[in-house]
Amino acid sequence: MGVDRTGIIGESPSLRQVFAVLGKVSPTDSTVLVTGESGTGKELLVRALHANSKRKGKAFVPINCGAIPRDLIESELFGHEKGAFTHAIRSRAGRFEIADGGTIFLDEIGELDLTLQVKILRVIQEKEFERVGGTVTTKVDVRIVAATNRDLEQEVAQGRFREDLFYRLNVIPIHLPPLRERYDDIILLGQHFLNVFCEQKQREVLRLTSQAQDFLIAYPWPGNVRELENFMERISILCENSEVAPEDLPEKILKFVGHEVPKRKPKLALEGFAWPTLVDLRDQSRGLKEFMDEIEDRLLQEALEECGGVKNQAAELLGIKRTTLIEKLKKRNAANG
Ligand SMILES: Nc1ncnc2c1ncn2[C@@H]1O[C@H](COP(=O)(O)OP(=O)(O)OP(=O)(O)O)[C@@H](O)[C@H]1O
Ligand SMILES: [Mg+2]
Repeated sequence: MGVDRTGIIGESPSLRQVFAVLGKVSPTDSTVLVTGESGTGKELLVRALHANSKRKGKAFVPINCGAIPRDLIESELFGHEKGAFTHAIRSRAGRFEIADGGTIFLDEIGELDLTLQVKILRVIQEKEFERVGGTVTTKVDVRIVAATNRDLEQEVAQGRFREDLFYRLNVIPIHLPPLRERYDDIILLGQHFLNVFCEQKQREVLRLTSQAQDFLIAYPWPGNVRELENFMERISILCENSEVAPEDLPEKILKFVGHEVPKRKPKLALEGFAWPTLVDLRDQSRGLKEFMDEIEDRLLQEALEECGGVKNQAAELLGIKRTTLIEKLKKRNAANG
């Protein structure tokens, strides 16, 4: 039962939530907006969405709105007629036409300028457009999925993104939390990539020692899953031992975490929770404030995971205002480096 995960690894509560939404939304034609930092697996997720949809036998057409020069992107999206511009020596279909019957993936949609945003809005609403330099209106049947690593609500507030388009896209939002917030998955994914790369290189599969695991959990993963994947490939080539110890990890991790084995994150440190006494605080050489912060951290984390990172809902679960939650998260991020 359930959704075909098509290679997406992860068992953390927030990822399970993502799979649950994926299962419900895949069979529909609803527009989906995937958000998340770079390298969190947005493209992988969108491909899974298409693979689980009734359009799976049809085209999946990705277009990276941030990677195509401004003056070419309109013709790339909508096609052009012969003579529409200097180098248009013959007419050509755009990505929307190619995607007819299937799914178009508008990656990095936050990079589109306002005039193109209007045109995208029209395709969403009317399912029609004209080629550049053309007069004939073309009708298409495409499912639109968009992704961005920007905060589009903020872009709207600053006048860089059309509010009406934002609401049209944001019918089903799916947020992929950064890897550092899914630490159940860090080890799972790390070991998975090691297995894959060691097999590729026909060497015996390397295991992560528990000390190396502690380093991986303590590192904040600014490049998310992509960074983890790259590091594991590097290790599969360079590691000379039969298992991965802290000294086999990339310098970047050791530099950030320090060379001593880090303490486990609060979540693990607090396992088997019992009301603390003064003796406990003294034994762990912690003050009241540190202890309270740790409890707060843990509850924030849990609430965010349960809501798939949707701050409104997390704040509601915690019984605090959204703005208070955001303040707390800011403080927490600053404290964590
Ligand atoms: N949960 C996961 N399980 C397995 N592999 C993953 C997972 N998440 C990401 N990856 C892998 O990590 C790499 C980055 O993923 P992807 O390209 O989907 O990220 P992205 O969010 O689109 O990044 P960007 O914003 O930089 O485009 C890919 O090689 C992908 O296969
Ligand atoms: Mg991507």
